[in-house]
Formats: sequence, structure tokens, C-alpha cells
Amino acid sequence: MDIIRTKSDLREIVNKALGKGQTIGLIPTMGFLHEGHLSLMRRARRENDLVIVSVFVNPTQFGPNEDLEAYPRDSEKDITLMRSVNADIAFFPDADDIYPYGYATYVQVEGAMAQTLCGRSRPIHFRGVTTIVSKLFHLAKPHRAYFGQKDAQQVAIIAKMIQDLDFDIELVVCPIIREADGLAMSSRNRYLTSRERSKAKVLSQALHSAQAKIKNGERSAAAVIQNITERIASVKPAEIDYVSVMDAVTLNDVQALRGKILIAVAVIIGRTRLIDNVQFEV
Ligand code: PAF
Repeated sequence: MDIIRTKSDLREIVNKALGKGQTIGLIPTMGFLHEGHLSLMRRARRENDLVIVSVFVNPTQFGPNEDLEAYPRDSEKDITLMRSVNADIAFFPDADDIYPYGYATYVQVEGAMAQTLCGRSRPIHFRGVTTIVSKLFHLAKPHRAYFGQKDAQQVAIIAKMIQDLDFDIELVVCPIIREADGLAMSSRNRYLTSRERSKAKVLSQALHSAQAKIKNGERSAAAVIQNITERIASVKPAEIDYVSVMDAVTLNDVQALRGKILIAVAVIIGRTRLIDNVQFEV
């Protein structure tokens, strides 16, 4: 595996690969890799000639009071994990190379899709995500880009950006990977104290019990939201940011459950903001 630190080195490798007619798979990450990221890499390995993993804690997607400085980092371990799944290129750019002095251009999906859910409490977050992801798309020129379903709103927004900006890239969305007790894997789980960690399973439990109720005939979004809210609120210290039932593609709220449905939650446990979701066809 080659470790690349500059945009120009990445461009050279990418252009060589494209010249040989190779296909490229890109996995954008912020590092501190876990089994969720590895599942994306394994799939990319099966589907592409060249697998590029980027590791960049992207400052433009963090608000002023968020955890940019504290975000966990462990590049040595990341490299070992990337090697274990036979990634070809690890791209660790510097912030100055990505956003040089005077940088002024942003990519933003307008409208409700980016303002709802996490967009309400993190107003600049998705603008930062779409900006860095489009830059990575231009640099890595992937045929396929791999993202995890855990960040359901991120996936919907990137799908919209790919469509609206005519990126000729296949978006591959991979299932959520969970810990044994159901907690969705996330680099931020490491912020949880052991007491908080044991409470955190309530997110997936509430979502899965709502899903079971829907299987048994429940069709009211309001009843589903109430059920999940009560279940999560019964656990202390859990502060609900949102519980939402939506159309999985548009992210518009629905009243009656029909078609492709996304149920998403964001909950603050202690100082850690956790998100989780389930998506299914009714
Ligand atoms: O999901 C993430 O880790 C980040 O939002 C991403 C897509 C790598 C952009 O920085």
C-alpha cells in the first residue's frame, strides 16, 4: 500500500491507473477506522482495480463549538487496518493542501434536505461534507464511492449532489455495522464513558422495536415517533435531538408509512452525540 500526502502525488497515481483502463474505488473517511469503514473497503476491493482510502478530519464540516480538535486520530492503526484489507492507496492530505490560504469555494445542496435532522443543530456541517467530497471526487476520479448507511442524511445529500452536479460516479451505500449489543459503530463511540456506553444501545433497541411494530401493521408515523421517543427518554442521561420518520430518498417527513421509509434518531448521551437509523420498504 502506498501512503500519499499530497494532491499532486494522488493525481499522478490516479492518471496512471486511468491510463491503464483500471477502475477506481474511493472510500472517504476521517480516520480512526473501525469495522464499519473496513466493510466499505472490503466491498471496494472486490469491485475495483485500485482502492483509494482518504483520511482527512475535514475542518469545514465542524461548527465552532464542535469536536474538531478532540476528534480521535490514530494514523498508525489506520494504516495497519487499511493494509489488512489490501487497500492500494492511503491518502492523508494536509489541511493546507486541501484548503490553501484564500480558499473560498463551497459546494452546497440547498433546501430542506440539508437543513432538517442533523442540519438543524449543525448548520454548516453538510456544506463542509459536500465540499470535501466533491474535491475528493475531482482528485481521485473514482468510478465508485463508498459510504455507510449510518450517516443516512449524508448519503441522501451526496446522492443529490452526484445527481445535480452530473458526477459520473456510482454511489455505493453499505449497511450499518453494529457492536454485539446493537450500537452502530462510530469513531465517536470512544467518547462514551463505560456507563454511557451501556446506555447507548437504547438507540438501536428503540429503532428495532419500532420496526417490529411496523411489521405487525403499525402505519402511523406519529405513533412510531412517540414509541421511540418514550423508549429513549426512559434512559438517563439521554437527551433526544430528533426522532424522525421520513421518505428515504427525499427526507421529507411522512404521516402514513408507505414506500421506502427512513427512521432516524440523534441522541446526546453525556457529551456524545450519537446517530442511528433503520431503512426499509413498507
Ligand atoms: O462520513 C465521514 O466520515 C465524513 O463526513 C466524510 C464523508 C469522510 C467527509 O469528511
